[in-house]
Amino acid sequence: MKVNNLITIDGISGAGKGTLAKSLALELNYSLLDSGNLYRLVGLIAKRLETNNSEEIAKELNSRKITMEFDNLKDLTEVFFGSERVTEDLRNEEVAMEASNFAKDSFIRNTLIKHQRDYFDSNKGLIADGRDMGTVIFPEARWKFFLIASIEERAKRRLRQLKEVGLEVKMPILIDNIKVRDEQDTNRDISPTVPAEDALTIDTSNLSAEGLKNKVLEIIKD
Ligand code: DC
Repeated sequence: MKVNNLITIDGISGAGKGTLAKSLALELNYSLLDSGNLYRLVGLIAKRLETNNSEEIAKELNSRKITMEFDNLKDLTEVFFGSERVTEDLRNEEVAMEASNFAKDSFIRNTLIKHQRDYFDSNKGLIADGRDMGTVIFPEARWKFFLIASIEERAKRRLRQLKEVGLEVKMPILIDNIKVRDEQDTNRDISPTVPAEDALTIDTSNLSAEGLKNKVLEIIKD
């Protein structure tokens, strides 16, 4: 049976998932799951422990509570690993690349399933933002969106986001990174970034954030 107050937003990197997810969560007063943060945390742990051993990483991941809370005023998701605030540590490009590398690993993906499913509380409703929300984590969601956009537009948006948290990256490097991650995320064997059969695909290249939000709200009101 389909669950009405569960909305999944999947898509390629920089297509506008995060912005849409945040604005819908605010508008509908639903909780928000930014699942990319969990994969980024895996990347951060791998870097810190200097290991590629997924069991070791999973053990560390499960050793502390992970808290993710959307801060409306700061317009970002605060992430705590135990008592340590790791919000900014998760945003850099190196960690994102590690996240994409480990996102191919079935042991890591399976470890993260429960972490993600636990975010859904049927009394509150949930916006789940990621790559496999509609296909693997919440197949029962009534509303599934898959966002795409041109690479130039995605790079521009990513540059803006990085600047906002004080990080500088050159455009050609950013475009190369996005291409590598697209390739890895879309073509991996396990949970690739593809639309669910019952997802609606939206090209956001020429849509403003407000325009996209209104389009989605129209659809779910029907
Ligand atoms: O959305 P993001 O850039 O924060 O995600 C970081 C990486 O994690 C991205 O390259 C793909 C991976 N990821 C994934 O495989 N599945 C998810 N549900 C979320 C992110």
